[in-house]
Amino acid sequence: MVHRLVSSIVGLWIFGLALVGGFAFAQGNDTALTPPMGWNSWNHFACNVTAADVRSAADAIVSSGMKSAGYVYVNIDDCWQGKRDAQGVIHPNEKFPDMKGLSDYFHGQGLKLGIYSSPGPKTCAEHEGSLGHEEQDAETYAGWGIDYLKYDYCSFQGDVQAQIAAYKKMHNALEKTGRSIVFSLCQYGMDRVWTWGPSVGGNLWRTTGDISDDYSSMAYIGFGQNGLERFAGPGHWNDPDMLEVGNGKMNKDEYRTHMSLWCILAAPLLAGNDLSKMTPETLAILTNPEVLAVDQDSLGAQGHRVAQEGPLEVWAKPLADGSKAVGLFNRGESVMPVTAYFRDIGVGESASVRDLWEKRDLGVFKVRFTAQVPVHGAVMIKVK
Ligand code: GLA
Repeated sequence: MVHRLVSSIVGLWIFGLALVGGFAFAQGNDTALTPPMGWNSWNHFACNVTAADVRSAADAIVSSGMKSAGYVYVNIDDCWQGKRDAQGVIHPNEKFPDMKGLSDYFHGQGLKLGIYSSPGPKTCAEHEGSLGHEEQDAETYAGWGIDYLKYDYCSFQGDVQAQIAAYKKMHNALEKTGRSIVFSLCQYGMDRVWTWGPSVGGNLWRTTGDISDDYSSMAYIGFGQNGLERFAGPGHWNDPDMLEVGNGKMNKDEYRTHMSLWCILAAPLLAGNDLSKMTPETLAILTNPEVLAVDQDSLGAQGHRVAQEGPLEVWAKPLADGSKAVGLFNRGESVMPVTAYFRDIGVGESASVRDLWEKRDLGVFKVRFTAQVPVHGAVMIKVK
């Protein structure tokens, strides 16, 4: 009896601590409760980005149906910066003449605007960083109506403690503005950022170097996320970098793998293609509602690898309704059968299976489910 009383007091205490910790983590209690979804200019436009490109991306997000599918952040990456004035206030360059006008336009369409800076003196493309101007920049961003900040290590110098202090400084500056701004840490997964990202207010943190539009880069990053699942949850997510879907250097099966894996990983989904020239195939991969629902599931659990046989892998993600999303992946060079054993994914001996890409119930299976998976491809199912 006494034992039970003590354990419930301890339980309540731990629960209380978890709540307090949870509230201390994010930029406001309701920020990024599911992985942020949107678009970022870098993967396609890099430093050539202009306000016109960003506006057409926003227009395409709305007209293509991506916004209804959940993509709401339109993020300007590096290369928007101009110079600081005599008071130290940062101004955009001539390609972004009116940031406030841009954000008003986006907000009018139900979208949000993101921006980019660095804790160092210079960004990765050698533009003005925020070192020594953190509060001033946070105020400027809030004044422009910014909703998301990607804060990129680049020229920052210092040990991990200095880095933690620098990210925390910007978090505090953002909080002080009173505006809810998603805080995206970008330091390529150094120093086990997943262990301290939440404590500096990070809503997401990059876990790797930059992705590029080819299967080996994407697969190296995506399949390398195993084991990080215990660090992610509502308000604080591992970020294996932005999407390359539709940029043209992977085939349909490879882009399906990219999307399936990112959704099982509960990864932020920032499209990185030219949305004004999107094929129906790309749009279908980016907006399949059943696949996106896995990423956006309210439980916020990141999936992990449950079985591997050479190049064949099975990954599973627990969902809020008690079912499991399962990815069957073939990293090999010929079509091969991949089997998911129900005991590995934690469901009963007999379970119903739905194909999420095909949006089709496949029936009830016993013990296992096997599918032929194309070269570099994926089959994604929900098992209940
Ligand atoms: C780094 C980041 C990229 C992009 C560029 C911009 O490489 O990892 O995602 O933001 O900087 O210069």
